[in-house]
Amino acid sequence: MKMLVVYYSEGGNTEKEARLMAEEFSADIERIDTLTPYPADREQMIALGQKEAETGATPAIKPLKHDLSEYDTIVIGTPTWWYTMAPAVLTFLKSYSFAGKTVLPFQTDAGQAGNVMSDIRRQLKGAMVFSGLRLEYDKNNNLTKRSENERNLWIDAVKKELLK
Ligand SMILES: Cc1cc2nc3c(=O)[nH]c(=O)nc-3n(C[C@H](O)[C@H](O)[C@H](O)COP(=O)(O)O)c2cc1C
Repeated sequence: MKMLVVYYSEGGNTEKEARLMAEEFSADIERIDTLTPYPADREQMIALGQKEAETGATPAIKPLKHDLSEYDTIVIGTPTWWYTMAPAVLTFLKSYSFAGKTVLPFQTDAGQAGNVMSDIRRQLKGAMVFSGLRLEYDKNNNLTKRSENERNLWIDAVKKELLK
Protein backbone atom coordinates (compact mmCIF):
# COMPACT_ATOMS: atom_id res chain seq x y z
CA MET A 1 0.00 0.00 0.00
CA LYS A 2 1.41 3.36 -1.03
CA MET A 3 -0.53 6.45 -0.04
CA LEU A 4 -0.50 10.05 -1.25
CA VAL A 5 -2.39 12.87 0.46
CA VAL A 6 -3.47 15.50 -2.10
CA TYR A 7 -5.22 18.64 -0.94
CA TYR A 8 -6.21 22.16 -1.82
CA SER A 9 -6.28 24.88 0.81
CA GLU A 10 -6.80 28.62 0.58
CA GLY A 11 -6.80 29.54 4.26
CA GLY A 12 -4.86 26.70 5.89
CA ASN A 13 -7.58 24.57 7.54
CA THR A 14 -7.49 21.80 4.96
CA GLU A 15 -3.71 21.97 4.85
CA LYS A 16 -3.48 21.44 8.60
CA GLU A 17 -5.67 18.34 8.38
CA ALA A 18 -3.82 17.01 5.34
CA ARG A 19 -0.48 17.31 7.15
CA LEU A 20 -1.83 15.48 10.17
CA MET A 21 -3.12 12.66 7.98
CA ALA A 22 0.16 12.36 6.08
CA GLU A 23 1.92 12.04 9.41
CA GLU A 24 -0.57 9.55 10.88
CA PHE A 25 -0.52 7.38 7.74
CA SER A 26 3.18 7.87 6.92
CA ALA A 27 2.03 9.04 3.49
CA ASP A 28 3.50 11.39 0.92
CA ILE A 29 1.75 14.72 0.56
CA GLU A 30 1.18 17.32 -2.15
CA ARG A 31 -0.80 20.53 -2.39
CA ILE A 32 -2.84 21.39 -5.46
CA ASP A 33 -1.99 24.86 -6.77
CA THR A 34 -3.88 26.83 -9.38
CA LEU A 35 -1.77 28.17 -12.23
CA THR A 36 -3.23 31.64 -11.57
CA PRO A 37 -3.49 32.57 -7.90
CA TYR A 38 -6.86 33.80 -6.61
CA PRO A 39 -7.18 37.56 -6.00
CA ALA A 40 -5.56 38.68 -2.75
CA ASP A 41 -8.68 40.72 -1.99
CA ARG A 42 -10.90 38.32 -0.03
CA GLU A 43 -14.21 39.62 -1.37
CA GLN A 44 -12.97 39.27 -4.93
CA MET A 45 -11.64 35.80 -4.18
CA ILE A 46 -14.98 34.71 -2.72
CA ALA A 47 -16.91 36.17 -5.66
CA LEU A 48 -14.69 34.38 -8.19
CA GLY A 49 -14.89 31.18 -6.14
CA GLN A 50 -18.67 31.41 -6.18
CA LYS A 51 -18.80 31.90 -9.93
CA GLU A 52 -16.43 28.98 -10.53
CA ALA A 53 -18.08 26.61 -8.07
CA GLU A 54 -21.57 27.36 -9.34
CA THR A 55 -20.64 26.89 -12.99
CA GLY A 56 -18.50 23.79 -12.43
CA ALA A 57 -15.43 25.64 -13.72
CA THR A 58 -12.08 23.86 -13.77
CA PRO A 59 -9.30 26.42 -13.26
CA ALA A 60 -5.92 25.27 -14.57
CA ILE A 61 -3.71 23.67 -11.94
CA LYS A 62 0.02 22.98 -11.81
CA PRO A 63 0.92 19.38 -12.67
CA LEU A 64 1.51 17.17 -9.62
CA LYS A 65 5.12 16.51 -8.73
CA HIS A 66 4.27 13.01 -7.51
CA ASP A 67 3.42 10.33 -10.08
CA LEU A 68 -0.12 9.29 -9.21
CA SER A 69 0.28 5.95 -10.95
CA GLU A 70 2.73 4.90 -8.23
CA TYR A 71 0.06 5.20 -5.53
CA ASP A 72 -2.81 2.81 -4.91
CA THR A 73 -4.40 4.89 -2.15
CA ILE A 74 -5.14 8.62 -2.41
CA VAL A 75 -6.45 10.90 0.34
CA ILE A 76 -8.18 13.94 -1.19
CA GLY A 77 -8.82 16.99 0.97
CA THR A 78 -10.85 20.02 -0.06
CA PRO A 79 -12.41 23.06 1.54
CA THR A 80 -16.13 23.50 0.86
CA TRP A 81 -16.75 26.27 -1.67
CA TRP A 82 -20.36 27.17 -2.28
CA TYR A 83 -21.63 23.75 -1.22
CA THR A 84 -19.25 21.81 -3.43
CA MET A 85 -15.51 21.01 -3.60
CA ALA A 86 -13.02 23.79 -4.37
CA PRO A 87 -12.84 24.24 -8.18
CA ALA A 88 -9.13 23.32 -8.24
CA VAL A 89 -10.02 19.93 -6.75
CA LEU A 90 -12.59 19.37 -9.50
CA THR A 91 -9.82 20.09 -12.02
CA PHE A 92 -7.60 17.58 -10.23
CA LEU A 93 -10.27 14.86 -10.22
CA LYS A 94 -10.97 15.42 -13.92
CA SER A 95 -7.26 15.42 -14.82
CA TYR A 96 -6.26 12.01 -13.50
CA SER A 97 -7.64 8.47 -13.55
CA PHE A 98 -8.58 6.93 -10.23
CA ALA A 99 -9.79 3.59 -11.59
CA GLY A 100 -8.64 0.74 -9.37
CA LYS A 101 -7.45 3.07 -6.63
CA THR A 102 -8.74 3.46 -3.10
CA VAL A 103 -9.73 7.08 -2.44
CA LEU A 104 -10.32 8.63 0.98
CA PRO A 105 -12.06 12.01 0.67
CA PHE A 106 -12.31 14.64 3.35
CA GLN A 107 -13.73 18.15 3.40
CA THR A 108 -13.47 21.11 5.72
CA ASP A 109 -16.33 23.59 6.00
CA ALA A 110 -17.79 26.34 8.16
CA GLY A 111 -21.10 24.67 8.97
CA GLN A 112 -22.66 24.09 5.53
CA ALA A 113 -21.38 20.77 4.25
CA GLY A 114 -23.29 20.96 0.95
CA ASN A 115 -22.87 18.15 -1.59
CA VAL A 116 -19.12 17.84 -1.48
CA MET A 117 -18.99 14.09 -0.92
CA SER A 118 -21.50 13.14 -3.61
CA ASP A 119 -19.87 15.59 -6.04
CA ILE A 120 -16.47 13.99 -5.39
CA ARG A 121 -17.84 10.45 -5.74
CA ARG A 122 -19.38 11.29 -9.10
CA GLN A 123 -15.90 12.06 -10.46
CA LEU A 124 -14.29 8.88 -9.17
CA LYS A 125 -15.39 6.27 -11.66
CA GLY A 126 -14.00 2.83 -10.96
CA ALA A 127 -12.42 3.82 -7.65
CA MET A 128 -13.11 2.28 -4.25
CA VAL A 129 -14.21 5.31 -2.24
CA PHE A 130 -13.78 5.07 1.52
CA SER A 131 -16.40 6.71 3.73
CA GLY A 132 -15.91 10.48 3.53
CA LEU A 133 -14.92 12.65 6.47
CA ARG A 134 -16.47 16.04 7.12
CA LEU A 135 -14.59 18.47 9.34
CA GLU A 136 -16.41 21.53 10.58
CA TYR A 137 -14.47 24.61 11.59
CA ASP A 138 -16.05 27.26 13.83
CA LYS A 139 -16.09 31.04 13.41
CA ASN A 140 -12.62 31.32 14.94
CA ASN A 141 -11.24 28.73 12.52
CA ASN A 142 -10.96 26.07 15.20
CA LEU A 143 -11.99 22.51 14.46
CA THR A 144 -15.17 21.73 16.41
CA LYS A 145 -14.83 19.20 19.20
CA ARG A 146 -17.28 16.88 17.50
CA SER A 147 -15.33 16.93 14.24
CA GLU A 148 -12.10 16.35 16.12
CA ASN A 149 -13.58 13.20 17.64
CA GLU A 150 -14.89 12.04 14.27
CA ARG A 151 -11.53 12.71 12.65
CA ASN A 152 -9.72 10.63 15.26
CA LEU A 153 -12.18 7.74 14.80
CA TRP A 154 -11.82 7.99 11.01
CA ILE A 155 -8.03 7.89 11.24
CA ASP A 156 -8.26 4.80 13.45
CA ALA A 157 -10.68 3.15 11.00
CA VAL A 158 -8.36 3.88 8.07
CA LYS A 159 -5.42 2.42 9.96
CA LYS A 160 -7.40 -0.72 10.85
CA GLU A 161 -8.83 -1.31 7.39
CA LEU A 162 -6.07 -0.16 5.07
CA LEU A 163 -2.81 -0.10 6.96
CA LYS A 164 -3.01 -3.54 8.56
C1 LIG B 1 -15.12 30.88 -1.83
C2 LIG B 1 -15.51 30.24 -0.52
C3 LIG B 1 -16.73 29.58 -0.44
C4 LIG B 1 -17.11 28.93 0.74
N1 LIG B 1 -18.29 28.23 0.78
C5 LIG B 1 -18.61 27.54 1.90
C6 LIG B 1 -19.80 26.73 1.96
O1 LIG B 1 -20.55 26.59 0.99
N2 LIG B 1 -20.09 26.10 3.12
C7 LIG B 1 -19.28 26.21 4.25
O2 LIG B 1 -19.61 25.63 5.28
N3 LIG B 1 -18.15 26.94 4.21
C8 LIG B 1 -17.78 27.59 3.07
N4 LIG B 1 -16.61 28.31 3.05
C9 LIG B 1 -15.71 28.22 4.20
C10 LIG B 1 -14.61 27.18 4.00
O3 LIG B 1 -15.11 25.97 3.45
C11 LIG B 1 -13.93 26.79 5.31
O4 LIG B 1 -13.49 27.94 5.98
C12 LIG B 1 -12.75 25.86 5.03
O5 LIG B 1 -12.32 25.23 6.23
C13 LIG B 1 -11.57 26.62 4.42
O6 LIG B 1 -10.51 25.74 4.18
P1 LIG B 1 -9.03 26.25 3.90
O7 LIG B 1 -8.63 27.09 5.13
O8 LIG B 1 -8.22 25.02 3.76
O9 LIG B 1 -9.08 27.07 2.66
C14 LIG B 1 -16.24 28.97 1.88
C15 LIG B 1 -15.03 29.67 1.79
C16 LIG B 1 -14.65 30.29 0.60
C17 LIG B 1 -13.33 31.01 0.54
